[in-house]
Amino acid sequence: MFVLSCYIGCLLTAIRAQQPPHIIFIVADDLGWNDVSFHGSDQIPTPNIDALAYNGVILNNYYSQPTCTPSRTALMTGRYPFHSGMQGRPILNSEPRGLPLQEKILPQYLKELGYVTRAFGKWHLGFYKREFTPTYRGFDSHLGYWGGYTSYYDHILEDMYPDGRSLSGHDLRHNMETVWQLDGEYATDMFTSVTVNTIRHHNTSNPLFLYVAHLAVHAGNAGKPLEAPQETVNNFAYIPDPNRRTYAAMVSKLDDSVGQIVGALMEKGMLGNSIIVFVSDNGAPSVGDYQNWGSNYPLRGNKGSLWEGGVRCIGLVWSPLINNSHRVSNEPMHVTDWLPTLLSAAGRNLSELANKLDGADQWSSISTNHTSQRKHLIIEIDEVMKTAAIRDREWKLVIGSFGTNGSIDGYYGEKGHEARNPAYNILAITNSTVATSIARYGHTATDTEINELRNSATVKCLFDGQYPVTDCNPSQTRQPCLFNIVSDPCEMHNLASTKEATLRQLYHMLVDEKESLVPQLTKPRDFDGANPAKFNYTWSSWQD
Ligand SMILES: *[C@@H]1O[C@H](CO)[C@@H](O)[C@H](O)[C@H]1NC(C)=O
Ligand SMILES: *[C@@H]1O[C@H](CO)[C@@H](O)[C@H](O)[C@H]1NC(C)=O
Ligand SMILES: *[C@@H]1O[C@H](CO)[C@@H](O)[C@H](O)[C@H]1NC(C)=O
Ligand SMILES: *[C@@H]1O[C@H](CO)[C@@H](O)[C@H](O)[C@H]1NC(C)=O
Ligand SMILES: *[C@@H]1O[C@H](CO)[C@@H](O)[C@H](O)[C@H]1NC(C)=O
Ligand SMILES: *[C@@H]1O[C@H](CO)[C@@H](O)[C@H](O)[C@H]1NC(C)=O
Ligand SMILES: *[C@@H]1O[C@H](CO)[C@@H](O)[C@H](O)[C@H]1NC(C)=O
Repeated sequence: MFVLSCYIGCLLTAIRAQQPPHIIFIVADDLGWNDVSFHGSDQIPTPNIDALAYNGVILNNYYSQPTCTPSRTALMTGRYPFHSGMQGRPILNSEPRGLPLQEKILPQYLKELGYVTRAFGKWHLGFYKREFTPTYRGFDSHLGYWGGYTSYYDHILEDMYPDGRSLSGHDLRHNMETVWQLDGEYATDMFTSVTVNTIRHHNTSNPLFLYVAHLAVHAGNAGKPLEAPQETVNNFAYIPDPNRRTYAAMVSKLDDSVGQIVGALMEKGMLGNSIIVFVSDNGAPSVGDYQNWGSNYPLRGNKGSLWEGGVRCIGLVWSPLINNSHRVSNEPMHVTDWLPTLLSAAGRNLSELANKLDGADQWSSISTNHTSQRKHLIIEIDEVMKTAAIRDREWKLVIGSFGTNGSIDGYYGEKGHEARNPAYNILAITNSTVATSIARYGHTATDTEINELRNSATVKCLFDGQYPVTDCNPSQTRQPCLFNIVSDPCEMHNLASTKEATLRQLYHMLVDEKESLVPQLTKPRDFDGANPAKFNYTWSSWQD
């Protein structure tokens, strides 16, 4: 009897061990490098995100795209956006454009492996025809918005035209249906509670892919770009700039969300076989369009630029399946790597996919600290703006200038080291919902480890007093700049004239890659067709 029950029990355990891991992929929108406290700032404590980072692997050379639509294209396809014409500016709400339908995307691959696939929050890969929306592209369900952003409480987006006209409409859907009853709910709380509910009701016989693409911390509409509950804003009275103070509250709500999601996975018994990823889609717009008062300090540049501040993003992964966690990885990784990496973790044979993808399988690099398969990455080639960047080993080549006359080529954002900020509170991390939830899956980082990891995750550029003067000013010189990113992560010292052979080599890699570029698919906006007024003031798939 004992033998038999062990036989059945052990068999069940073995079957369970065979089940692909649950994948929880959390994307923050426009969150700056310096806006998580594990990167060294004391200004905005993020105890839950920090706990996930310290107990997992901090991906400190993780690159994404400079804006939303290209980042999400790269994530979903595992291919560089310039291979599908999706490089360049993000989709505007009244623009008839979407990620081309021949592109097979992550949830479609995961469904083949038996996953239940659920999306929450932002889509931004097109909706002018229904075929482009999430539930037609591999997601079993979606609760969120189809466009680029909305306001945090009323879920409305206003598409402003340069000539002063604008189109305004509601954008919150459950699959194809407009959802009105959640108006007035704070977006971060709303997406969190629907995610938590989904976890509670999930049938754990099936692996779950949860794509949680928060609105936070993107700016909302003109007139109320930053919104957070007042009681949360009140926690940041020590931040003098009122916009930055509201932004801090938005980040704090995002951190709470991560805690609640991990807590729900623990209660459901799913954590032991989960992979949790937390990334930002691009750097913060500290200045310029959709300014949110985020900070990429000490990195150079802004959202929309190819400087490190625009594309070197927050990235971390936690999982009990990682053999060698509690470390900072400095191996280069690109947003296109997630698709093969997650499919590999889920047990898919990637051999027939390899030559379709630009992404590299990083699963063994992450889970066992092997060297990365990726040696170089094309950060972006934008044939319209005539900008491009590539990273190869320690080198980075940047071509072009960003913003108007280089208006986002500099250094922006708060440092977070001022004495008025609270001291880093390690107890808040070790006592966070994340830390207490993951405690049963191995050792949780000690105070000493936390201090060491935080120190090695902090980028140091030695310009604490003043922002530096740099010898690369492409808006004036129109010359490419070359940096050694390992020794000069803040892109202060242009080596273009001293390392000519390296410059030429990287330049030729870009030229070779440009052979396969698909021209940008951007379209003029369709003011009359897309007008939400025709659809009861909702943004709709107007070309159906
Ligand atoms: C859960 O999923 C399994 C496998 O798909 C199925 O056999 C089972 O009936 C489901 N359980 C419930 C309660 O729906
Ligand atoms: C993966 O697929 C290829 C081609 O279909 C096959 O040759 C190879 O043996 C497979 N690898 C594994 C580990 O199953
Ligand atoms: C996992 O880690 C242990 C101890 O650190 C080591 O002995 C083992 O070889 C590792 N497994 C893999 C697959 O790397
Ligand atoms: C990971 O690998 C690197 C390079 O091989 C090594 O320096 C480092 O000590 C390893 N980290 C851990 C935590 O094993
Ligand atoms: C950008 O620079 C050009 C040439 O110096 C100048 O004519 C133009 O007015 C500048 N634009 C802005 C917005 O500063
Ligand atoms: C730890 O967190 C719990 C629940 O959030 C709280 O009640 C308790 O006071 C905290 N403990 C410390 C020492 O901060
Ligand atoms: C139109 O929009 C209002 C909210 O503005 C909503 O209450 C109403 O149900 C909508 N009508 C239809 C037919 O969907």
